[in-house]
Amino acid sequence: MSPEHEIQSLREQLHRHAHAYYVLDEPRIPDAEYDRLYQRLEVLEAQHPELASRDSPTMRVGGGLLAAFTQVKHSVPMLSIRTETDTESSGAKSFDARIRKELKLSESAVPIEYVAELKFDGLAMSLRYESGVLVQAATRGDGETGEDVTHNIRTIYQIPLKLPSVRSELVEVPPVVEVPPVVEVRGEVYMRRDDFEQLNERQRAKIAAGAKGEKTFVNPRNAAAGAVRQLDSSIAANRPLSFFAYSVAQGLPDGVTTHSETLAQLKRWGFPVSSDVRICKGADELVQFHADMALRRDRLPFDIDGVVYKVNSLAAQAQLGFVSREPRWAVAHKYPAQEQMTSVLAIDVQVGRTGKLTPVAKLAPVFVGGVTVTNATLHNEDEVRRKDVRVGDTVIVRRAGDVIPEIVSVVLDTAHPEPALGHEAGATLQHAQRKRGAMFTIPTHCPVCGSVAVREEGEADTRCTGGLICGAQRKQAIEHFAHKRAVYIDGLGEKLIEQMVDAGIIKSLPDLYRLGLANIVALERMAEKSAQNVLAAIEKSKQTTLPRFLFGLGIRHVGESTAKAFAKHFGSMDAIMDATDAQLQQVPDVGPVVAQSLRAFFDAPFNREVVEQLRACGVTWEEATNLGEGQPTTPQTLLGKTFVLTGTLPTLGRDEAKELIEAAGGKVSGSVSKKTDYVVAGAEAGSKLDKARELGVAVLDEDGLMHLLRN
Ligand code: IVH
Repeated sequence: MSPEHEIQSLREQLHRHAHAYYVLDEPRIPDAEYDRLYQRLEVLEAQHPELASRDSPTMRVGGGLLAAFTQVKHSVPMLSIRTETDTESSGAKSFDARIRKELKLSESAVPIEYVAELKFDGLAMSLRYESGVLVQAATRGDGETGEDVTHNIRTIYQIPLKLPSVRSELVEVPPVVEVPPVVEVRGEVYMRRDDFEQLNERQRAKIAAGAKGEKTFVNPRNAAAGAVRQLDSSIAANRPLSFFAYSVAQGLPDGVTTHSETLAQLKRWGFPVSSDVRICKGADELVQFHADMALRRDRLPFDIDGVVYKVNSLAAQAQLGFVSREPRWAVAHKYPAQEQMTSVLAIDVQVGRTGKLTPVAKLAPVFVGGVTVTNATLHNEDEVRRKDVRVGDTVIVRRAGDVIPEIVSVVLDTAHPEPALGHEAGATLQHAQRKRGAMFTIPTHCPVCGSVAVREEGEADTRCTGGLICGAQRKQAIEHFAHKRAVYIDGLGEKLIEQMVDAGIIKSLPDLYRLGLANIVALERMAEKSAQNVLAAIEKSKQTTLPRFLFGLGIRHVGESTAKAFAKHFGSMDAIMDATDAQLQQVPDVGPVVAQSLRAFFDAPFNREVVEQLRACGVTWEEATNLGEGQPTTPQTLLGKTFVLTGTLPTLGRDEAKELIEAAGGKVSGSVSKKTDYVVAGAEAGSKLDKARELGVAVLDEDGLMHLLRN
């Protein structure tokens, strides 16, 4: 194949796969294969600069740095939609009545056909294609003139750089028409909620790491708008944007006579079109759509602020025309806002199952995003300080989707009222400042159990050190103890533990061994047979090993392999509990952090008491003599490989993952560099994942890691 042909074929394949991946959400080849094709194309394009083309998939990023935005006069003005203020059913009815009147339809005429769509909460964009190639993307501006933001819009993989011609393989049903010489597509650029949350999580991590000039974003729409207005497209490329097409302003192929056909045509051209569209006949069906979407709103992956009704027939649309930049044939029907103002009554600190202290703002009840909100998370100490939320402040609360309500910002105008003019000005200001609450500080002790709370260096979270004594961590502690890799109580899972703790029959670990059949049978949905099985499993768990027992105590930083190392080095539980910091650090791979953590744990009398009680209940483990025997040494499958862990893995704890890697001969490092072999990423992975992608370091999920370990 000639380089020219190969380049063309690669571009076509990559367009097709990107469409399958980003628009249809149905990847057809593995990522690695896509990368291989992409890299091959990059090589060929580098070797043949004369074959460069702006519509190549390699040309999405790298538009360079602009000095300023260029103004763009829209060839067809970008209109806005009239908003029906009446959000009850009468809104749809009066819209339908108006349309019928304008179209001079009689009472007995058939119902009008409408298309009901979602009103996406993003920003309007006009995309111009000449000879099928994207040449310009412009913001709405004042509707007549917008700004050229092509360089940023090109980074959105959902937006085709090139419209497919008739015989393209891009679509199942071949389009019946050639791409017109000029096509102008209108739609909405937005950010998905999950992308927004991850972006903010990354921003928080950057801020925690001391990055200057970084901030978190208020809501997906602001984040999207900010990305679109970057002069440097590499910044926009790192802000995950999405797109929905909803109209064709120019170049609609002949034969398309309705809005619903327009949407079908947009899909054929490869644009993402929302699947939440419905053809509705008459006002009642519009009302139904509004009600149906109100119920679905929270579960949508993106924000909407309402629904839009459009007359389906394009001929009727033309007949209806416009009034002052608003078409008569469309109307928006809003939903309750997802952001509201309220005041902060208190800032409480909650302790999570893992001992994490989370500041939570108690709010004056406010109706936002369809529910009454009285609490909003503040994440951690830094976050409260950065937003500078204080008791008594007026704040903007956002609640969208299933996401926990959040404080977006403090409304400083009311927190610091502008001093009134005149001689009282100074007094007013002083008064306002005096009235504002003190700056928040995270408590030094756990509000649940009173144990010391610590924030380790480089960490954003403060944790309770109470371990087994802390009521907040009880369920987690028992779950950990009963885990397969710890003491292992078969059949004692999260649900059952939850039931037992809630019923008050287990308060701490030794209570497990004091349970009788009656206690368990009394639990809801518990048959006698299963209760007997649980009891038998508890009985069986009494015979355990020292490393399993030590690991099962859930001491922070003491994972499976560290527990093994301690057991091997000291030989007995008493020796471990009594070891000094220095003695602990003599164990291979044990540093000050682990040693201190273990020391602090056994310095708390309650934790020792738990160990003694467990022994008294009959829990035993073999000590020094036969340790290590029969235990196969872990195969060194990861010898010489360096790993970085980021985010939350679905089942493995951070320490567990670290130990597994180290046991197999690998190294775990804290930061990503060119020397990193793998980044293992879980949920809410942050800047380390970005860095990995930037450097082309292989990224694994938990399954991937387990696979490596086995092979
Ligand atoms: S149609 C003639 N459809 O709402 C109407 N607009 O006020 C032209 N919007 O700035 C727009 N979802 O960005 C249309 N499904 C949808 C929409 C939608 C959101 C935005 C659009 C425009 C504003 C109109």
